[in-house]
Amino acid sequence: MHKTTWVELSREALRHNANMVRRLAPKAAILAMVKANGYGHGASWVAESLHQQVEGFAVARLSEAQQLRARLTKKHIQARIVQLGTSVDGAVLQACSVHGLDLVIHDLESAKLLAASPLPRPITVWLKMNVGMNRLGMSTEEFAQAHQLLCVQPHIASIHHMSHFSDAEDLDPTLTEQQSLRLSELSSSLSGSPYPLSMANSAAIIGHPNCHHDWVRPGIMLYGDDPTQRLHAANALKPVMTFKATVLALRDVAPGDGVGYNRRWQAKSNARIATVAAGYADGYPRHAPDGTPVLVNGQRASVAGRVSMDLMTIDVSHLPHTTVGDEVTLWGEGLAASEVGRYCGTISYELFTRITSRVDRIYL
Ligand SMILES: Cc1ncc(COP(=O)(O)O)c(C=O)c1O
Repeated sequence: MHKTTWVELSREALRHNANMVRRLAPKAAILAMVKANGYGHGASWVAESLHQQVEGFAVARLSEAQQLRARLTKKHIQARIVQLGTSVDGAVLQACSVHGLDLVIHDLESAKLLAASPLPRPITVWLKMNVGMNRLGMSTEEFAQAHQLLCVQPHIASIHHMSHFSDAEDLDPTLTEQQSLRLSELSSSLSGSPYPLSMANSAAIIGHPNCHHDWVRPGIMLYGDDPTQRLHAANALKPVMTFKATVLALRDVAPGDGVGYNRRWQAKSNARIATVAAGYADGYPRHAPDGTPVLVNGQRASVAGRVSMDLMTIDVSHLPHTTVGDEVTLWGEGLAASEVGRYCGTISYELFTRITSRVDRIYL
């Protein structure tokens, strides 16, 4: 296959990371986050790879949930699919019922609508409380009211209680444990308790073992990044996605010569520039500054000049054996996406989800 710009996706790394979630949260069920096309890795590939290792999958939009259900059904895979906070109307409720999708209810209006909507098949709901993020979720009073409304409905198969931490990357447990307690205290005061509780994202799974509760919701750690940067080496995660492109051209430049649009990078001495087949239209960030690291045949080099739509330029002056056709790793195996993200003022999540459709996907 002719390749210029591609991502390699490692199933072995994905499964290793899921095992690590299990090791860190041995008593919890795992709801794997596959929203945004599995953080850019391919939602159905992730779900097919992990369905025997985890207890369910979560997506953000109804269209994502429907697509995933269709793909899994085709492969005869039954799995819990949870649709995270979205706008709820009669059509969404019907779709959840018909396709067997769990639904997060994050406001009282949706709970009222659901309570008043008979459904062909009962659905499982996850009631979401706001414990401090102030993004989605109900206040204590609304949550209790929504719960009382729904717990008596014959078309509600079961109820889970959930929330989302605002500061789980902060390894000081004070705030996260307070937020955790707000949900668990309210939940245990409601009729019919105990209910399954879910709060922990990757940072909480890694950094706050007291806050795992019954269902953990790992996202980024499944894909190989540790948002706390504190995981012990024995529990190291493996990058699932490696973004690669080939060297298309090489040229020598003289002191004072500029490279790329507006000649942002200027040679201080004789230098060798490699032009690489990746640009912002592939998902490499346009705002990557000079000095952002890449690997050429496994050795570090760096961005030199503004990233353009289809191409980027790197300084390989110290790598005299570089030739046209060589492989350049933009992030992944050997170069953490989080490090590239730090140069670019972003996080691995954004880098992963911005890989565009023209980039070849090679599933290993
Ligand atoms: C509600 C919810 N739970 C869990 C996660 C997973 O977070 P992370 O990828 O940091 O593990 C997300 C991600 O944004 C989320 O929105």
